[in-house]
Amino acid sequence: MSRKLNMAIVGLGFGSEFIPIYQRHPLVNMYAVCQRNKESLDKIGKAFGVEKRYISFEDLIQDPQVDCVHINSPIHLHAPQSIAALRAGKHVACTVPACTTLEEAREIVKAAKESGKKYMMMETVVWSREYLYVRELRDAGQLGRIQFVRGSHLQNMYGWPGYWEGLPPMHYATHCVSPCLGIVSGEAEFVSCLGSGRIAEKLIAKYGSPFSFETAHFKVRNQDVAGEVTRYLFDSARQYIESFDCYGSQTSFEWQLTEHDDPVLHVGGEKVEKVKIPDYAHLLPEGIREFTTKCVYDLAENAHLSFIQGSGHGGSHPHLAHEFVMSILEDRPSFPDVHQSVNWTMVGILAHESALRGGEKIYIPNFRGI
Ligand SMILES: NC(=O)c1ccc[n+]([C@@H]2O[C@H](COP(=O)([O-])OP(=O)(O)OC[C@H]3O[C@@H](n4cnc5c(N)ncnc54)[C@H](O)[C@@H]3O)[C@@H](O)[C@H]2O)c1
Repeated sequence: MSRKLNMAIVGLGFGSEFIPIYQRHPLVNMYAVCQRNKESLDKIGKAFGVEKRYISFEDLIQDPQVDCVHINSPIHLHAPQSIAALRAGKHVACTVPACTTLEEAREIVKAAKESGKKYMMMETVVWSREYLYVRELRDAGQLGRIQFVRGSHLQNMYGWPGYWEGLPPMHYATHCVSPCLGIVSGEAEFVSCLGSGRIAEKLIAKYGSPFSFETAHFKVRNQDVAGEVTRYLFDSARQYIESFDCYGSQTSFEWQLTEHDDPVLHVGGEKVEKVKIPDYAHLLPEGIREFTTKCVYDLAENAHLSFIQGSGHGGSHPHLAHEFVMSILEDRPSFPDVHQSVNWTMVGILAHESALRGGEKIYIPNFRGI
């Protein structure tokens, strides 16, 4: 394709973060924005200078000028909108999680295959600077053989939009599952999970999920490596953490216990050193490098639309945008590709199912044959 890709962003809360990144990407035309509320759609459209605006997702995906959509709507819309956009012939990037059921996972894979379009789940953790640092160690052979992986995502979600209230913790597990499977370039074969504790009664009814914590083990398909992930969303006392540990035969990486500390490398089992994680902006086109440290939030309070936010999702946003765009232009699988995206999401969906069944081992369907 010789012209720039016409990008449309759907959902303008978190989604607004990506508008200036695509605007500055040398191979993208930030073409359209879409959300249901006309007033705030116009406000955001005007603030960023995006002329083409849609209040209807269905109308947006009928626009022949749109090459790709980046979906940032509420969780339950991710899969239906992704499938509809793929079937309308658009490349799709979608924020996490990819879906909420196995049927949706299968349909996403089918729609991507039948349309020949790209699908990428925009998992921030696997493009964070911490992940890129461990990936660099892995690729340089410094970790040795990867023996075990572990992740946790502990976050109190009181005060977030209503659809979060009572959500089963493992239904939003991609931030801890993805780095574990990403670093071994793998997909999970089966999962077993226990639920623990009990959340407030008024929250339980919404999704029928009583657990404060859920903790799961999974086996990596065709590898002799296993992983463990832990999540909580409500009614436990713990500072926010999205952590990832990777144990190698030569060197292991462990996340810090508390914010503002540094991660630790265990070298050869005896030597322990704290590491300052470098930034990876140099991997990006010049125009979007600054976004590894800069975010755009809250139009009302920030007149010039932006502020510096130390680590904003590990500096992942411009890497995600760039990966999505280049996977289309180079016609190659994105990281994660559609299979990884749905597998990493299904680990959480089936982990919750397992927890409801007292820890039963559940096999994860392999949709690669579709
Ligand atoms: N680290 C991460 O990867 C990360 C961080 C934050 C949010 N998220 C994801 O981003 C998503 C959005 O988060 P948020 O905090 O902005 O949510 P939000 O509920 O505040 O905003 C949702 C946006 O979607 C729009 N929307 C709703 N229904 C729509 C429809 N039918 N058509 C078009 N637009 C529609 C709304 O108008 C709004 O702009 C969530 O699903 C969350 O999972 C991911």
